[in-house]
Amino acid sequence: MDIRHATVLYFSPSGTTERTAKAIAKGTGLPCNFVDLLAQPDYTDHFAPDELVLVCMPVFGGRLPSACPALFQHLTAENSPAVGVVVYGNREYEDAGVELLDLLSAQGFIPFSSAAVVAQHSLFPKVAAGRPSQKDIAELEQFGQQIQGKLSTFSPHGITAPPMPGNRPYRDFAGVPIKPRTSSACTKCGVCVKICPADAIPASNPQITDEKKCISCTACVSGCPAGARSFGGFLYKLAGVAFTKKNSKPKQSEFYFSI
Ligand SMILES: Cc1cc2nc3c(=O)[nH]c(=O)nc-3n(C[C@H](O)[C@H](O)[C@H](O)COP(=O)(O)O)c2cc1C
Repeated sequence: MDIRHATVLYFSPSGTTERTAKAIAKGTGLPCNFVDLLAQPDYTDHFAPDELVLVCMPVFGGRLPSACPALFQHLTAENSPAVGVVVYGNREYEDAGVELLDLLSAQGFIPFSSAAVVAQHSLFPKVAAGRPSQKDIAELEQFGQQIQGKLSTFSPHGITAPPMPGNRPYRDFAGVPIKPRTSSACTKCGVCVKICPADAIPASNPQITDEKKCISCTACVSGCPAGARSFGGFLYKLAGVAFTKKNSKPKQSEFYFSI
Protein backbone atom coordinates (compact mmCIF):
# COMPACT_ATOMS: atom_id res chain seq x y z
CA MET A 1 0.00 0.00 0.00
CA ASP A 2 1.21 3.50 -0.80
CA ILE A 3 1.52 5.22 2.60
CA ARG A 4 2.75 8.79 2.32
CA HIS A 5 2.54 10.14 5.85
CA ALA A 6 2.17 9.17 9.49
CA THR A 7 0.50 10.46 12.62
CA VAL A 8 2.44 9.85 15.82
CA LEU A 9 0.45 9.96 19.05
CA TYR A 10 2.16 9.76 22.42
CA PHE A 11 1.43 10.19 26.14
CA SER A 12 4.68 10.96 27.91
CA PRO A 13 4.70 12.43 31.45
CA SER A 14 8.49 12.28 31.87
CA GLY A 15 9.56 12.41 28.21
CA THR A 16 10.98 8.95 27.40
CA THR A 17 7.88 7.82 25.49
CA GLU A 18 8.09 10.98 23.40
CA ARG A 19 11.79 10.34 22.63
CA THR A 20 10.95 6.75 21.70
CA ALA A 21 8.10 7.85 19.42
CA LYS A 22 10.27 10.44 17.67
CA ALA A 23 13.13 7.99 17.04
CA ILE A 24 10.80 5.38 15.51
CA ALA A 25 9.09 8.09 13.43
CA LYS A 26 12.45 9.32 12.15
CA GLY A 27 13.34 5.80 11.05
CA THR A 28 10.22 5.50 8.90
CA GLY A 29 11.40 8.46 6.82
CA LEU A 30 7.76 9.54 6.47
CA PRO A 31 6.51 13.10 7.03
CA CYS A 32 4.89 12.96 10.48
CA ASN A 33 2.24 14.84 12.39
CA PHE A 34 3.15 14.61 16.10
CA VAL A 35 0.38 14.73 18.71
CA ASP A 36 1.16 15.06 22.44
CA LEU A 37 -1.88 13.47 24.08
CA LEU A 38 -0.91 14.77 27.52
CA ALA A 39 -1.18 18.33 26.20
CA GLN A 40 -4.13 17.56 23.92
CA PRO A 41 -6.32 14.97 25.70
CA ASP A 42 -9.31 15.89 23.52
CA TYR A 43 -7.41 15.39 20.25
CA THR A 44 -9.95 14.07 17.76
CA ASP A 45 -9.12 12.48 14.42
CA HIS A 46 -10.35 9.95 11.89
CA PHE A 47 -7.65 8.11 10.02
CA ALA A 48 -7.86 6.99 6.39
CA PRO A 49 -6.66 3.58 5.12
CA ASP A 50 -3.51 5.12 3.61
CA GLU A 51 -2.22 6.74 6.83
CA LEU A 52 0.26 5.10 9.19
CA VAL A 53 -0.55 5.66 12.86
CA LEU A 54 2.08 5.13 15.55
CA VAL A 55 0.82 5.16 19.14
CA CYS A 56 3.30 5.16 22.06
CA MET A 57 2.27 4.83 25.71
CA PRO A 58 4.16 4.26 28.97
CA VAL A 59 3.52 1.24 31.21
CA PHE A 60 2.08 1.79 34.69
CA GLY A 61 1.77 -1.34 36.84
CA GLY A 62 1.88 -3.61 33.80
CA ARG A 63 -1.05 -1.74 32.22
CA LEU A 64 -1.59 1.46 30.29
CA PRO A 65 -1.95 4.53 32.55
CA SER A 66 -5.59 4.80 33.67
CA ALA A 67 -5.87 8.16 31.86
CA CYS A 68 -5.03 6.58 28.46
CA PRO A 69 -7.99 4.42 27.35
CA ALA A 70 -10.30 7.48 27.38
CA LEU A 71 -8.00 9.19 24.85
CA PHE A 72 -8.93 6.55 22.26
CA GLN A 73 -12.60 7.54 22.31
CA HIS A 74 -11.74 10.47 20.01
CA LEU A 75 -9.65 8.40 17.58
CA THR A 76 -11.28 6.31 14.88
CA ALA A 77 -9.84 4.62 11.83
CA GLU A 78 -10.88 2.99 8.59
CA ASN A 79 -8.51 0.02 8.55
CA SER A 80 -5.47 2.30 8.95
CA PRO A 81 -2.17 0.44 9.48
CA ALA A 82 -1.05 0.98 13.08
CA VAL A 83 1.93 0.31 15.33
CA GLY A 84 1.45 0.11 19.12
CA VAL A 85 4.47 0.74 21.34
CA VAL A 86 4.66 0.49 25.12
CA VAL A 87 7.59 2.02 27.00
CA TYR A 88 8.53 0.54 30.38
CA GLY A 89 11.08 1.07 33.11
CA ASN A 90 13.07 -2.18 32.97
CA ARG A 91 10.78 -4.12 35.35
CA GLU A 92 8.02 -5.76 33.23
CA TYR A 93 5.37 -4.61 30.78
CA GLU A 94 2.97 -7.47 31.52
CA ASP A 95 -0.44 -6.78 29.86
CA ALA A 96 0.14 -3.21 28.64
CA GLY A 97 1.10 -4.27 25.10
CA VAL A 98 -2.00 -6.39 24.45
CA GLU A 99 -4.15 -3.71 26.08
CA LEU A 100 -2.81 -1.16 23.57
CA LEU A 101 -3.29 -3.52 20.62
CA ASP A 102 -6.88 -4.24 21.75
CA LEU A 103 -7.66 -0.50 22.02
CA LEU A 104 -6.30 0.10 18.51
CA SER A 105 -8.32 -2.76 17.01
CA ALA A 106 -11.49 -1.60 18.78
CA GLN A 107 -11.20 1.81 17.10
CA GLY A 108 -10.82 0.37 13.59
CA PHE A 109 -7.02 0.36 13.29
CA ILE A 110 -5.14 -2.66 11.93
CA PRO A 111 -2.13 -3.12 14.25
CA PHE A 112 0.54 -5.00 12.27
CA SER A 113 3.52 -4.25 14.50
CA SER A 114 4.25 -3.55 18.15
CA ALA A 115 7.13 -3.08 20.54
CA ALA A 116 7.99 -3.02 24.22
CA VAL A 117 10.78 -0.50 24.69
CA VAL A 118 12.96 -0.11 27.79
CA ALA A 119 13.48 3.40 29.21
CA GLN A 120 14.55 5.08 32.42
CA HIS A 121 12.08 4.39 35.22
CA SER A 122 10.23 7.64 35.88
CA LEU A 123 9.50 6.90 39.56
CA PHE A 124 12.89 5.36 40.37
CA PRO A 125 15.27 7.00 37.85
CA LYS A 126 18.34 5.01 38.88
CA VAL A 127 16.70 2.07 37.10
CA ALA A 128 17.64 2.04 33.39
CA ALA A 129 19.15 5.51 33.93
CA GLY A 130 19.72 7.44 30.71
CA ARG A 131 17.71 5.07 28.51
CA PRO A 132 16.81 5.30 25.73
CA SER A 133 20.58 5.48 25.18
CA GLN A 134 22.20 6.34 21.84
CA LYS A 135 22.30 2.60 21.13
CA ASP A 136 18.57 2.32 21.95
CA ILE A 137 17.78 5.29 19.68
CA ALA A 138 19.67 3.65 16.79
CA GLU A 139 17.68 0.44 17.38
CA LEU A 140 14.41 2.40 17.43
CA GLU A 141 15.28 4.15 14.17
CA GLN A 142 16.03 0.75 12.66
CA PHE A 143 12.60 -0.46 13.85
CA GLY A 144 11.09 2.56 12.08
CA GLN A 145 12.89 1.51 8.88
CA GLN A 146 11.50 -2.02 9.22
CA ILE A 147 7.99 -0.59 9.65
CA GLN A 148 8.44 1.45 6.48
CA GLY A 149 9.66 -1.68 4.64
CA LYS A 150 6.55 -3.65 5.64
CA LEU A 151 4.11 -0.97 4.52
CA SER A 152 4.51 -1.77 0.82
CA THR A 153 3.03 -5.23 1.39
CA PHE A 154 0.42 -4.12 3.95
CA SER A 155 -3.17 -5.13 3.24
CA PRO A 156 -5.80 -4.79 5.98
CA HIS A 157 -7.30 -8.19 5.25
CA GLY A 158 -6.46 -11.32 7.22
CA ILE A 159 -3.91 -9.71 9.54
CA THR A 160 -3.65 -11.15 13.03
CA ALA A 161 -2.32 -9.08 15.93
CA PRO A 162 1.47 -9.06 16.41
CA PRO A 163 2.56 -11.90 18.73
CA MET A 164 3.14 -9.73 21.78
CA PRO A 165 3.10 -11.40 25.22
CA GLY A 166 0.32 -10.42 27.63
CA ASN A 167 -2.80 -11.80 29.28
CA ARG A 168 -6.52 -11.16 29.03
CA PRO A 169 -8.24 -10.29 31.29
CA TYR A 170 -5.56 -7.72 32.08
CA ARG A 171 -3.98 -7.60 35.51
CA ASP A 172 -5.36 -5.17 38.08
CA PHE A 173 -3.38 -2.05 38.94
CA ALA A 174 -4.73 0.29 41.61
CA GLY A 175 -1.85 2.80 41.53
CA VAL A 176 1.16 3.35 43.76
CA PRO A 177 1.19 5.06 47.17
CA ILE A 178 4.00 7.40 46.03
CA LYS A 179 2.67 10.94 45.47
CA PRO A 180 4.52 14.14 44.55
CA ARG A 181 5.31 16.79 47.14
CA THR A 182 5.54 20.53 46.59
CA SER A 183 8.39 22.62 48.00
CA SER A 184 8.50 26.31 48.91
CA ALA A 185 10.00 26.97 45.43
CA CYS A 186 6.42 26.74 44.04
CA THR A 187 5.38 30.05 42.46
CA LYS A 188 1.77 28.93 41.91
CA CYS A 189 2.25 29.52 38.16
CA GLY A 190 -0.34 26.83 37.38
CA VAL A 191 1.69 24.85 34.79
CA CYS A 192 1.13 21.67 36.81
CA VAL A 193 -2.61 22.34 37.03
CA LYS A 194 -2.87 22.35 33.23
CA ILE A 195 -0.56 19.40 32.62
CA CYS A 196 -2.02 17.00 35.22
CA PRO A 197 -4.01 14.31 33.33
CA ALA A 198 -5.92 13.34 36.47
CA ASP A 199 -7.15 16.81 37.42
CA ALA A 200 -5.49 16.27 40.81
CA ILE A 201 -4.00 19.75 41.32
CA PRO A 202 -6.49 22.52 42.16
CA ALA A 203 -6.02 25.85 40.34
CA SER A 204 -6.96 27.62 43.57
CA ASN A 205 -3.88 26.16 45.31
CA PRO A 206 -1.36 24.30 43.10
CA GLN A 207 0.70 23.40 46.16
CA ILE A 208 -1.87 20.77 47.03
CA THR A 209 -2.21 17.36 45.32
CA ASP A 210 -5.45 15.41 45.60
CA GLU A 211 -3.86 12.05 46.40
CA LYS A 212 -7.04 10.12 45.60
CA LYS A 213 -7.05 11.46 42.02
CA CYS A 214 -3.26 11.55 41.45
CA ILE A 215 -1.96 8.66 39.27
CA SER A 216 1.71 9.42 40.15
CA CYS A 217 2.47 9.84 36.45
CA THR A 218 5.34 12.36 37.06
CA ALA A 219 4.04 14.98 34.58
CA CYS A 220 3.97 17.68 37.29
CA VAL A 221 7.45 16.73 38.52
CA SER A 222 8.95 16.91 35.00
CA GLY A 223 6.91 19.93 33.96
CA CYS A 224 7.36 22.27 36.94
CA PRO A 225 9.45 25.23 35.72
CA ALA A 226 10.60 25.95 39.29
CA GLY A 227 11.56 22.33 40.05
CA ALA A 228 9.22 22.51 43.04
CA ARG A 229 7.58 19.11 42.72
CA SER A 230 9.32 15.85 43.58
CA PHE A 231 8.95 12.46 45.19
CA GLY A 232 10.56 12.05 48.56
CA GLY A 233 10.36 10.82 52.12
CA PHE A 234 11.82 7.89 54.01
CA LEU A 235 9.50 5.22 52.58
CA TYR A 236 10.07 6.39 49.00
CA LYS A 237 13.83 6.26 49.48
CA LEU A 238 13.62 2.84 51.13
CA ALA A 239 11.38 1.47 48.35
CA GLY A 240 13.76 2.97 45.77
CA VAL A 241 16.80 1.12 47.13
CA ALA A 242 15.04 -2.27 47.04
CA PHE A 243 13.39 -1.61 43.66
CA THR A 244 16.63 -0.43 42.07
CA LYS A 245 18.53 -3.48 43.31
CA LYS A 246 15.85 -5.87 42.07
CA ASN A 247 15.56 -4.30 38.59
CA SER A 248 19.19 -3.42 37.88
CA LYS A 249 19.87 -6.00 35.13
CA PRO A 250 19.36 -4.18 31.79
CA LYS A 251 16.61 -5.60 29.61
CA GLN A 252 16.36 -5.45 25.84
CA SER A 253 13.54 -3.87 23.89
CA GLU A 254 11.32 -6.27 21.93
CA PHE A 255 9.89 -5.75 18.43
CA TYR A 256 7.02 -7.67 16.85
CA PHE A 257 5.47 -7.90 13.38
CA SER A 258 2.49 -9.82 12.12
CA ILE A 259 3.36 -9.38 8.43
C1 LIG B 1 2.92 5.04 38.32
C2 LIG B 1 3.99 4.36 37.52
C3 LIG B 1 3.95 2.98 37.35
C4 LIG B 1 4.94 2.34 36.59
N1 LIG B 1 4.87 0.98 36.42
C5 LIG B 1 5.82 0.35 35.69
C6 LIG B 1 5.76 -1.07 35.49
O1 LIG B 1 4.81 -1.75 35.83
N2 LIG B 1 6.80 -1.67 34.85
C7 LIG B 1 7.91 -0.95 34.43
O2 LIG B 1 8.84 -1.56 33.94
N3 LIG B 1 7.95 0.40 34.54
C8 LIG B 1 6.93 1.07 35.15
N4 LIG B 1 6.97 2.43 35.28
C9 LIG B 1 8.03 3.17 34.60
C10 LIG B 1 7.56 3.76 33.27
O3 LIG B 1 6.85 2.83 32.51
C11 LIG B 1 8.75 4.23 32.45
O4 LIG B 1 9.61 5.03 33.22
C12 LIG B 1 8.37 4.99 31.21
O5 LIG B 1 9.56 5.19 30.47
C13 LIG B 1 7.75 6.35 31.53
O6 LIG B 1 7.43 7.03 30.34
P1 LIG B 1 7.53 8.63 30.22
O7 LIG B 1 8.98 8.99 30.40
O8 LIG B 1 7.06 8.90 28.84
O9 LIG B 1 6.65 9.19 31.29
C14 LIG B 1 6.00 3.10 36.02
C15 LIG B 1 6.03 4.49 36.19
C16 LIG B 1 5.03 5.12 36.92
C17 LIG B 1 5.07 6.61 37.06
